[in-house]
Amino acid sequence: MSSVVVVGAQWGDEGKGKVVDICTEAADMVVRYAGGPNAGHTLVVNGAKLIVRLIPSGILHEKTACILGQGMAIDPATLVGELDELDRRNVRYAGRLFASDKAHVITPYHVLIDTLREAGPDAIGTTKRGVGPCYEDKAARRGVRLGDLRDATKLRHLIGAAVAAWSPVIRALGDEPPEVEAVVTSLLSLVPRLTPLIADTAPMVQGAVRAEKNVLFEGAQGALLDIDFGTYPFVTSSHSVAGGACVGSGVGPSQIDFCLGLVKAYCTRVGGGPFPTELVDDAGDHLRNVGQEYGSVTGRPRRTGWLDLPALRYAVRVNGIDAIALTKIDVLSGMKELKVCVRYRVNGTETDEFPIDDLATAIPVYENLATWTDDISAIRDRSRLPAAVQKYIEFIEKNVECAVTLISVGPSRDETIGTSGIFDSIDV
Ligand code: GDP
Ligand code: IMO
Ligand code: MG
Repeated sequence: MSSVVVVGAQWGDEGKGKVVDICTEAADMVVRYAGGPNAGHTLVVNGAKLIVRLIPSGILHEKTACILGQGMAIDPATLVGELDELDRRNVRYAGRLFASDKAHVITPYHVLIDTLREAGPDAIGTTKRGVGPCYEDKAARRGVRLGDLRDATKLRHLIGAAVAAWSPVIRALGDEPPEVEAVVTSLLSLVPRLTPLIADTAPMVQGAVRAEKNVLFEGAQGALLDIDFGTYPFVTSSHSVAGGACVGSGVGPSQIDFCLGLVKAYCTRVGGGPFPTELVDDAGDHLRNVGQEYGSVTGRPRRTGWLDLPALRYAVRVNGIDAIALTKIDVLSGMKELKVCVRYRVNGTETDEFPIDDLATAIPVYENLATWTDDISAIRDRSRLPAAVQKYIEFIEKNVECAVTLISVGPSRDETIGTSGIFDSIDV
C-alpha cells in the first residue's frame, strides 16, 4: 500500500490522463495537486473520450475518492461544466469527489487579464484560462479561496478589493474592469452545485495515507513547465514537479513512496519558449498528424520534436522519478528517420546536462536509431515488440538510468503494456 506521484517529465501532454486512469484501478484516492483548467487530461475508455481539466483522471472508477487539492486554481464555472458532463455520462461522484476549501478561485477578471496580456507584446502563449493571474492573487495574499464562496459578504469584500487592485492593470491593457456585483452574482449562482464538494481536503488525504490506502497524486503540466524548474519565463504559475504533490495536497515528503514519470516517446510543446529539438519539417508533421498533437484545451497545434534525453535526465532528478511510463511510441511507426538528442553543445563544449539557461544557443547532438513500420498498437507484451522498438526503449533506459515499466501503444485504456500492479510493485 503506497503513495505514488504521476508526473509529466516534459512540457505537458505526456498522457497523464490515460496513465492515471489505468493506475486508478488499484487506487483508493486520486489527488490533483497543481494547476487548473490549463490542464487537459484525456481518457479513452471503450471508445469514448473524456477530457478532464480540473477533476482527477481517476473519476471513472466509482470506488475511488477524487480530490482537487489546495494547490489548485479552480474555475468554478469550468468545474460545474465538468460535473454536468459526468451527469450526462451517468458517472456517480456524490460523496467521493471533493475540492479543497483552500484552493484558489479563478474569476472572470483573471481570464480577462490573461487574455488581454496574451494579445500584447508580452504574450508567452498561455492557455488564457486565468491561471497565472489567479496564482498572482494568491501570492499577493488577496485571493479568493473556494471556501469563501460560502460567505457572500466576505466574497463581496474580497472581489471588491481584488477588482480595485487589478483595475489600473486592466485599463492599461485597454479594457474596462468588470462590475464587482456582476462577478459576485455569477460566482454565487454556482454555489449550490459546489457546496457538496467543498471540504478541508488535506485531512482526508492525510487520513488515507495514514491508513495505508493506495493514494495517487496526479500531476498537471510537466517538469519543464514548473515555475521554478521549467524554462522560465515560459512556464506555468505553479509547482508541477513531484514536490508540488506535498504542498498542493497536505502530506510530507516522507509520505510519498514512488514517483512515476510520464515520458512521451518524442517531444511536444504548446505555446512559446525554447524547444531545441523542435522539428519544422515533414517529420514534425508526421508526429503532429499521427499523434493528433492538438491541445486538448485550446485546440492549438502542438509544436513537435525529437526526444530530448538531457531534458529527461534533468526531469528524473528534479522529480525523483523512480520509473518511467513511456507513451505514444506507436506514433513513431513509419518515421523515415529517428533521432534522439543525447547531449548538447554549448559555446563549443559538449555537455550531458540539459542547458536550461542556455537553451537559445545550445545545439542538440543527435544519435540516429533504427526505424520501424509495424503497427504495434495490438501488442501487449514488451518482448513481442519489434526489435527496433525494444532498442528505442532500452536506449532511453540506459541513457536516463531509469526503467521503463509501463508502455502505452495507443490512446485506449487497453492499449498498454505492463498495466498491472503499480502499487504492488513498489518496494517500500
Ligand atoms: P495529458 O495532459 O498528459 O493527460 O495528455 P493529453 O490528454 O493532453 O494528450 C495526450 C493525447 O495522446 C491524448 O489525446 C491521448 O488520448 C493520447 N494518447 C495517450 N497515450 C497514447 C498512446 O500511447 N498512443 C497514442 N497514439 N495516443 C495516446
Ligand atoms: P497538461 O496537464 C501543455 C503551457 C501553456 C503555456 C504555459 C503557461 O494537459 O499537460 P498557463 O495557461 O498555464 O499560464 O500557460 O504553460 N501549459 C501546458 N502545456 N499541457 C498542459 O497541461 C499545460 N498547461 C499549461 O501552453 O505555454
Ligand atoms: Mg494535456
